[in-house]
Amino acid sequence: MLCRRLFLLLKTVVILLALGQAAAGQLRSLADRAGILLGTAVRSERLSEPPYSSTLTREFNMLEPEDAMKWFVLRPNSQTFDFGPADRIVAFAQANGMKIRGHTLLWARQNPQWLLDGNFREKELLEILKAHITGVVGHYRGKVFAWDVVNEAFDESGNLRDSIWYNQPGIGLAEQRTAYIEKAFRLAHTADPDALLFYNDAEGETMNPKSDAIYAMVKDFRSRGVPIHGIGLQMHVASDPRPNIASIRDNIVRLGSLGVQVHITELDVALPVDAAGLPLHNTDLTVQAAIYRELLRACLEQPHCTAFQTWGFTDRYSWLQSSSHGSRGAGLLFNRQYRPKANCAAIRDELRRGR
Ligand code: XIL
Repeated sequence: MLCRRLFLLLKTVVILLALGQAAAGQLRSLADRAGILLGTAVRSERLSEPPYSSTLTREFNMLEPEDAMKWFVLRPNSQTFDFGPADRIVAFAQANGMKIRGHTLLWARQNPQWLLDGNFREKELLEILKAHITGVVGHYRGKVFAWDVVNEAFDESGNLRDSIWYNQPGIGLAEQRTAYIEKAFRLAHTADPDALLFYNDAEGETMNPKSDAIYAMVKDFRSRGVPIHGIGLQMHVASDPRPNIASIRDNIVRLGSLGVQVHITELDVALPVDAAGLPLHNTDLTVQAAIYRELLRACLEQPHCTAFQTWGFTDRYSWLQSSSHGSRGAGLLFNRQYRPKANCAAIRDELRRGR
């Protein structure tokens, strides 16, 4: 009797392990077949860790540097560029046949101190921005296929956020609202006419005042021939409250009506976690997988939703832990030991169903 029970238990464990393994190792080829880019943010300093790099090349067909293309990394001072960490990611992606998204050319945050403390006048800032966009986009011309040109320019009410580039003091276009954003897009387009240019933001995924403002800007830009080709929906969501998928779908649909692509750019589904970063409630993992499934389905349903990217891929390295001071995490596809979570099976099933 005991023997039989043990045998059944062993059998169940073997089947569960096999299911887990089946979910892993297939995402990349299934994404290729479904005609969608499946991406993740990466940290250059982790590429030397074998489980990190092998999971990347096995499961993803697109990468984006998590921090390495931000001003604070690229620009140690006003004269020079440090392309080292970003170049390592680009070389890794190229060696493994993966697409590369660039992030980000203009943002109010993660700027170097010399820029913030420089007391630059508007004209000087415009020159600094020009040199930056020209230098960075030029360096990665033909390698980075899509850029987040501008990141997080709107607040929750749909007003433009104060920033060094907009109005403090700005590049001389503060009176004309989104003109400073337009300027950045025009500079990037000149530096690489073949790159796809995206506006990227958080919390503008559903229909709300922020996404209304983004929609209005894209409509205006498109009507005047400003080179904008896509919108990035960051998608930092949580298991509770669950994201409003119907509203996200409506927003993806309306952006498509303007003729731009949509990329999900920074997806993670935050869970309450314990001090070790493990989920407090195992049932949350089921909810999380359902959210991954529904979001991927909402994207696959729309032909102009062309990329589905998570903000990291292993719960071992995720910005959620630090940004929530340890209270939330476990938001990604693989656990801290690189084992596929139920999320992977959900993604695999949807990719199999295709568009
Ligand atoms: C985060 C990174 O993940 C962290 O490593 C870094 O310390 C802070 O920035 N929105 C964005 C991303 O556009 O660049 C941010 O990335 C997360 C929020």
